Amino acid sequence: MPHHDQISPVNKQNPVLVQGAMDVEIETLVDALDNVIEKTFGSWTFWEGQINGYPVVVSRTEIGLANAAAATTLGIEHYKPTFIINQGTAGGHDPKLFRGDIVIGETSFNMGSYKTEHTEKGKGIHPTTWQNFDMTMYLRDNGEVIKHNHFKADPALVQLAMSLSDSYSKGKVVTGVIGTGDEWNRELDRINWFHNTFGTAIEEMETSAAAMVAEAYKIPFVSIRVLSNTDQHGQDFEPQTAIDCQFYVLSVINALIKNL
Ligand code: 5AD
Repeated sequence: MPHHDQISPVNKQNPVLVQGAMDVEIETLVDALDNVIEKTFGSWTFWEGQINGYPVVVSRTEIGLANAAAATTLGIEHYKPTFIINQGTAGGHDPKLFRGDIVIGETSFNMGSYKTEHTEKGKGIHPTTWQNFDMTMYLRDNGEVIKHNHFKADPALVQLAMSLSDSYSKGKVVTGVIGTGDEWNRELDRINWFHNTFGTAIEEMETSAAAMVAEAYKIPFVSIRVLSNTDQHGQDFEPQTAIDCQFYVLSVINALIKNL
């Protein structure tokens, strides 16, 4: 049992919270739950149930950073989860990765936060000179302001997720940097600019917002994302990848439960 000492639940009854943005990204997880109860708060739906007798809550966050932050806050306040797993589809940035490969997000950051220098009227628009807003999110801890320009996943959860990589037959499983934005980029020069500037493996629209809220509440967090598309290889969105990712996440949840 690797890192049993690091994975220490506050309370055995507290659930694992597992998130996905779209129906295709959560339906396989909901099907795996026993004794399901569905609840909606505002426009965010949760499915409470058990896997192997252990409480698990599936959350449909909806798409984008604001939705992910709201759904994570609701999930934490209502269920006091022991762990949070964000999962789902993503687009490839790293040319070494192909559709079907899975990235365990060691870090994530808000890729879509910018400030620009002043330029005069008529001088044009220059996205590669835009500065990321230091990619900074502020958290207050014991009255102290702490700047975060990225969020780190829980190392024990990353290690557990990586330890099952041999069981995944649809592609590679690697660790990497996740860039989150309210964007869907398909311009290869822009994709390569992100990859070269920030080391992004993939882009998607929720992880860093969920990670920020998890960090604020000090709840161990990891994001497990499958490449459902990558313009690096002309591979368009394939919904089956979302299902394959959920089966991988279920194996991670089962291993996690066994370790508790
Ligand atoms: N760019 C941005 N988001 C993507 N998603 C899948 N592929 C991409 C991509 N290339 C995910 C987002 C969002 C939904 C539209 O799909 O996380 O939830």
